[in-house]
Amino acid sequence: MIYLDNASTSWPKPPEVAAEMTRFLNEDGANPGRASHRMALAASDMLRAVRLKLTRLFDADAPERTILCFNGTDALNIAIKGVLREGDHVVTTQLEHNAVLRPLQAMADRGFIEVTWLPMNADGYVDPDGITRALRPSTRLVAVTHASNVTGLIQPVEAIGQIVRAHDALFLVDAAQTAGVLDISIPVMHIDLLAVPGHKSLLGPTGTGALCVGDRVDPRPWREGGTGGDSSTLTQPTQYPYVLEAGTPNAVGFAGLGAALDVLNPPGTLAHERRLLARLVDGLGELDGGRIMGDPEVSRRVGTISLCFSTMRPDEVGAALDRSFDIAVRAGLHCAPLTHKALGTFPDGTLRVAPGRYTTAEEIDRLIEALREIVGA
Ligand code: ALA
Repeated sequence: MIYLDNASTSWPKPPEVAAEMTRFLNEDGANPGRASHRMALAASDMLRAVRLKLTRLFDADAPERTILCFNGTDALNIAIKGVLREGDHVVTTQLEHNAVLRPLQAMADRGFIEVTWLPMNADGYVDPDGITRALRPSTRLVAVTHASNVTGLIQPVEAIGQIVRAHDALFLVDAAQTAGVLDISIPVMHIDLLAVPGHKSLLGPTGTGALCVGDRVDPRPWREGGTGGDSSTLTQPTQYPYVLEAGTPNAVGFAGLGAALDVLNPPGTLAHERRLLARLVDGLGELDGGRIMGDPEVSRRVGTISLCFSTMRPDEVGAALDRSFDIAVRAGLHCAPLTHKALGTFPDGTLRVAPGRYTTAEEIDRLIEALREIVGA
């Protein structure tokens, strides 16, 4: 299989990930923090080490405020549902994934909050000036994706962060497509809440993610339950990270994520992915009716690009790539319906190609040849 669906989840993982998950399961696989025996303590130590690595990676200042989550959606839900109060106004964008869009829409449908959905421009970017214009006295939260999971285009989060901070609102960044390949500095970008999945460019297994919570906000927990430690009270402890981490964590998954963080994408991975996209863009030039969604410039995107063809629907092309050429891409709406409405690709969506750290130039050439056969040169 030629795997070009790294925007969904990275594959393969570095070999250290499965090795460490197996070792942890066989040797230390107890419930972290739920007892004081040797295995439980080893599991707790492992979680603490992962928390610290994530905290350092994003320049966050307090490891205990790096919350270990089940995925990016979990992190975003903790942030959104924990922060918003009745009557609040939220500014967000058409580029968001359903993990942001749906929690906000559900709260807006109940009349609990008001949401402004900012459009993207014709090239696929959110304009920071649009954020400025949308802010109101009641704006508590601005939620923006660091890069669109459809187009791969990187958004101006640093400029937006300055605007949000000056307004004294909270800034939530969905770094699902960027964590692990782009530098993310919470203080430099004025981020209050950073949500990341562990299984995309951080190269860990599925079932892992994190939310870095800044010191300007204390989200209310929406999941309450056991935290180990103090079991005496009927209410959730207020101490971080336990306030937001009820229930047994995915310790096996975090063992894998910890190993992934030790061998994380070396410098040059993003350049490698962009070179592969540039090779694809060159090859596409020869295809009949093939076009790139949004700004075609590869230096302004992560390793993701969305394509459409005038002669065939994206799902037809995706199915042919899978069945006849053993090439895995993602076709359809990519859980981001507003982005497609703005791009004019709703409801069929696009064909999304996402090479990763381990993709080779030969694999991209095989994709170009396969597309040539499927859609015609
Ligand atoms: N959010 C993931 C994607 O973009 C699953 O494919």
